[in-house]
Amino acid sequence: GNALTDNVFHQAPSVCRAARERLNGHRALVIWFTGLSGAGKTTLANALEAELHRQGRRTLVLDGDNVTQGLCADLGFLVQDRHENLRRVAEMARMTVEAGVVTLAAFISPLAEDRAMVRSIVGAASLFEVYVRCPLDVCETRDVKGLYKKVRRGEIDNFTGISAPYDAPDSADLVLDTGVMPAAACVAILLQRLQSRMALP
Ligand code: PPS
Ligand code: ADP
Ligand code: MG
Repeated sequence: GNALTDNVFHQAPSVCRAARERLNGHRALVIWFTGLSGAGKTTLANALEAELHRQGRRTLVLDGDNVTQGLCADLGFLVQDRHENLRRVAEMARMTVEAGVVTLAAFISPLAEDRAMVRSIVGAASLFEVYVRCPLDVCETRDVKGLYKKVRRGEIDNFTGISAPYDAPDSADLVLDTGVMPAAACVAILLQRLQSRMALP
């Protein structure tokens, strides 16, 4: 056995997720946005949350930029750091979904293997994966935070899409082409697709 986990026991909660969902009047799930830096993950997660909140849904946004400054302040952007970052976020999302909250996660999550880990931690039935698709040159032209400029000056290593890989998802629940479609149209599609996933049984 494992000396660490042999002496740890599962403690059953007194209130179950279904009861919390009934109290909220809707089901919970994780909406996971993956895509390059500048593709539109943060914009879409925030705009969708505002709409869901207006509809009376319990929501929470987990954003890579914010998590890196707190929960994962000890991690960088090496493959193993991103893996641990996404493992922690997925565990956190599992808890917030258990709490009955519609959880919007905006992380580059570049590797198929790490997205599979997210799926197994959160549970496939509770996950809605959105591929925020946008050509690298469009992301670089947007350069929302000036990061691409820094990358081209050699000031940032392991930058996704340039000096670190991005595996395009092949089985996302939804693909949004943000290079050609305005954000408001993307949010409208998301809202439509999510209604049945949030309806109580
Ligand atoms: S990951 O790959 O899922 O663990 O990354 P994530 O937690 O989403 O954090 C991505 C944000 O960190 C900033 N940043 C970088 N991104 C990619 N590569 C490198 N090297 C890097 N360094 C800093 C950047 O602001 C990312 O946010 P977004 O919103 O994607 O631009
Ligand atoms: P990310 O979080 O993926 O790095 P951001 O949301 O910070 O991306 O930046 C995306 C940029 O692209 C914003 O300036 C946003 O206004 C613009 N944009 C244009 N079209 C879209 C769209 N369809 N969805 C999201 N963002 C879009
Ligand atoms: Mg962002």
